[in-house]
Amino acid sequence: MPSDTILDVTDFSGGFTSPTGFTPVLHQVSFGLRRSVMTAIVGETGSGKTMTALSILGIAPRGFTRTEGTMVFDGLDLVAGAPQSFRDVRGKRISLVFQDARGSLNPVFTVGHQLIDVCRVNQGVSKKEAAAQALEMLARVRIPEPARRMKQYPHEFSGGMAQRVMLALALISRPELLLLDEPTTGLDVTIQADIMSLITELVVSEGLTACLITHDLGVVAENCQDVVVLRNGRVRETGSCEQIFTAPQDEYTRNLLAASRLVEAL
Ligand SMILES: Nc1ncnc2c1ncn2[C@@H]1O[C@H](COP(=O)(O)OP(=O)(O)OP(=O)(O)O)[C@@H](O)[C@H]1O
Ligand SMILES: [Mg+2]
Repeated sequence: MPSDTILDVTDFSGGFTSPTGFTPVLHQVSFGLRRSVMTAIVGETGSGKTMTALSILGIAPRGFTRTEGTMVFDGLDLVAGAPQSFRDVRGKRISLVFQDARGSLNPVFTVGHQLIDVCRVNQGVSKKEAAAQALEMLARVRIPEPARRMKQYPHEFSGGMAQRVMLALALISRPELLLLDEPTTGLDVTIQADIMSLITELVVSEGLTACLITHDLGVVAENCQDVVVLRNGRVRETGSCEQIFTAPQDEYTRNLLAASRLVEAL
């Protein structure tokens, strides 16, 4: 029987090596992502949210080394396993959406070309089949006139539309786990709400597991079921959204909530 969690991070520690020495940034980080649930990772800037996501995908920047701990994805040891373990899951079973959509899209290829490429690499389908899937995916992320948009380049898309394309790119390989690193930061407030509701809808309709990295506790309250609170590379608290919002155990969580003005007079 598959376990309730699709990803288990246990005592994961690591840091950066520079000419001046080793700086730890993650300290025994432990949490699990429950299947078909949207979990939020929250915490102030520099708390290690992005490094945690990049470590899951095995794409931490040069200079970062893991010192201890494990990450197990659906029974597969991402850390101690062969390098093949990462290759098999990265971009296929686990996808990542970054904050800066336009910066992550390749400016020299049309959006359709990029979607078709990813689809072919991950699913080994014919070009025709990949094109059909690309078109379907653009429609699914609610891009109007998807056939025309397929032929356009990233600079012809607005920020919100580019973020939808990123989402389409992340979803076209049919991942089981979707990592979203501040996917709406930098977008207009109304567009942020649109993109978040689209993400939530896709997560529910596809039965995806999602991990949303965000500063915005309002977004967490509205869209997530579980929460991981990080500070200075340490997990301060984990729990259900309800638990964290109504009965936070950690002082830091209480401060975060008070600062967000979501909960009055805690
Ligand atoms: N390439 C790098 N070289 C050295 N240190 C780095 C590098 N990238 C990140 N760090 C450090 O690792 C720590 C965690 O960074 P991380 O990017 O994970 O934070 P974050 O929680 O995502 O912050 P933010 O909310 O600003 O995105 C920080 O102290 C940061 O300075
Ligand atoms: Mg970050």
